[in-house]
Amino acid sequence: MILVTGATGTVGRELVRVLAAWGEQVRAVTRDLAKATFPDGVEAVRADFDEPATLKDAARGADAIFMLSAPGPWIPRNDAAVVAAARAAGVRRVVKLSAIGTGDHPEDRDWHLAGERALKGSGLAWTILRPSSFASNTLSWADAIRAGQPVPNTMGDGRQGVVDPADVAEVAARALVSSEHDGRTYTLTGPEAISVPQMAETLGTVVGRPVRTVPLSLDEYRERLTEAGLDPAFVTTAVEGSRLVASGGNERVTDDVERVLGRPPRSFADWAGAHRAAFAG
Ligand SMILES: NC(=O)c1ccc[n+]([C@@H]2O[C@H](COP(=O)([O-])OP(=O)(O)OC[C@H]3O[C@@H](n4cnc5c(N)ncnc54)[C@H](OP(=O)(O)O)[C@@H]3O)[C@@H](O)[C@H]2O)c1
Repeated sequence: MILVTGATGTVGRELVRVLAAWGEQVRAVTRDLAKATFPDGVEAVRADFDEPATLKDAARGADAIFMLSAPGPWIPRNDAAVVAAARAAGVRRVVKLSAIGTGDHPEDRDWHLAGERALKGSGLAWTILRPSSFASNTLSWADAIRAGQPVPNTMGDGRQGVVDPADVAEVAARALVSSEHDGRTYTLTGPEAISVPQMAETLGTVVGRPVRTVPLSLDEYRERLTEAGLDPAFVTTAVEGSRLVASGGNERVTDDVERVLGRPPRSFADWAGAHRAAFAG
């Protein structure tokens, strides 16, 4: 049985769907059973990273756990709670969703490093997935695009190996059901490095009218995120992430998706075509 944390999120939702379609026994975690819907046959369980006893109950009887925390400085605490629950429940394998560049940043902004270390030192079998930027992040532009407005660009012409989160989920599914990926760290990217203006152009092709970008300085970006009430540590990490991408520091493409799945990763154009409705209205 596979326990999926973050099961209602971008990657987890797709992972639950894939595992259920493969006929695996899946237990999906959410904090709110009334809101969540899962495919037939999937067991839903309420658990919260901040209530360790609920995680321990959820992990009972699981062979493997997919460990996903919502982004933020709380990731080390959440990962520690999941690793402890896995050990207490006698789980064999944990697959952690981490992020590209983990280990390359100052430690106070490296939210995934402590969880990677905790998992590697746990005695459990582990796989670490370090995806690049998700194609689905551009859904935050959907309102602007539907309204014919330009989309904000905090990254200039900096390029990234933007990855389809469904590919990340499929790699996770493979790692959860087989020992073949134990002890591996995969950096998951799409097939090419692309910039914000290139993504906007692709979305313009998909909706049938040009999508423009408008530069947003990092100071303005910081102000907007702060005004939106986001945690200061989150704001700093988001701003520094944009700075890194703008300078070319995340221009990385790997063949890890293809090596695991035996097929090339889906492109941003593939993802955009499949999500046309969100941008076209
Ligand atoms: N976006 C990117 O470009 C990118 C790139 C690389 C890595 N990542 C990493 O990907 C992860 C985010 O993945 P995602 O986008 O799939 O997640 P997401 O869509 O933000 O969903 C977050 C999930 O976490 C669950 N959750 C939140 N707080 C919880 C708590 N206290 N206890 C239990 N569950 C909780 C939510 O479940 P309920 O609300 O149902 O409880 C939800 O399923 C982050 O760790 C991030 O660093 C993201």
